[in-house]
Amino acid sequence: MSPIRPLIAGNWKMHGLESALDEARLLAATVEARSPSARVAIFPPATLLSRLAHALEGLPIEIGGQDCRPEPSGAFTGDVSPEMLVDAGASLVILGHSERRAYHHESDVLVAAKVAGALRAGLEPVVCVGESLEERRAGLAVATVERQVRACLADVSGGQGVVVAYEPVWAIGSGLTPSVSEIEAVHGAIRGALQTVLGAAGGAVPILYGGSVKGANAAEILSAEHVDGALVGGASLKASDFIAIIQAA
Ligand code: PGA
Repeated sequence: MSPIRPLIAGNWKMHGLESALDEARLLAATVEARSPSARVAIFPPATLLSRLAHALEGLPIEIGGQDCRPEPSGAFTGDVSPEMLVDAGASLVILGHSERRAYHHESDVLVAAKVAGALRAGLEPVVCVGESLEERRAGLAVATVERQVRACLADVSGGQGVVVAYEPVWAIGSGLTPSVSEIEAVHGAIRGALQTVLGAAGGAVPILYGGSVKGANAAEILSAEHVDGALVGGASLKASDFIAIIQAA
């Protein structure tokens, strides 16, 4: 692991009703008791954001949104703005997740606009990139993520707080993960692309790995070169599963 402070981020996706607050309280109490070296963040559905922010007030867990529009407000039925996420208690936001790209046809240009909106509002964007199975099989994994990093961060000026998450689309929710050397090759390429786009500040951007991270593989993945944390889906829903990953960082 690099000298960058690791971030372990839990993406709850479209999971969680009121009862999930108890699981989050349990997680927060454990994180406080064990004071892990990693930053810990939870990304609940938008409906739980402000309740979670209140439930975890003063506890060492950051809260983020799973998406936002670029604009601060406007006639955009059903959407949430970066400023609204901040108002609800968020300090981070996931942008360009492959499920948004697949189900909502989000392009790199739109993700770049969302990144700019998030930074305007003072949110730390977690920008997701990753190749499809077809792209990996065609030997295009590195070229794909380099292109996504350059396009999604095109409007970011150096030094602002940004996180990148490498999530191979075929590894999400599938139980499959790339080998450590495959992860290192892509993370190294992302580091290079970040330095091209952001200059020296690109060396300080945390690069998370995401896709079927669980307690059993977390230590191996988190100790890989250029891996500065994890973006965790399924294994973030239960406090005991998520804690095992946090402890491995
Ligand atoms: P997973 O999801 O951990 O369930 O594979 C990761 C993600 O989509 O962020």
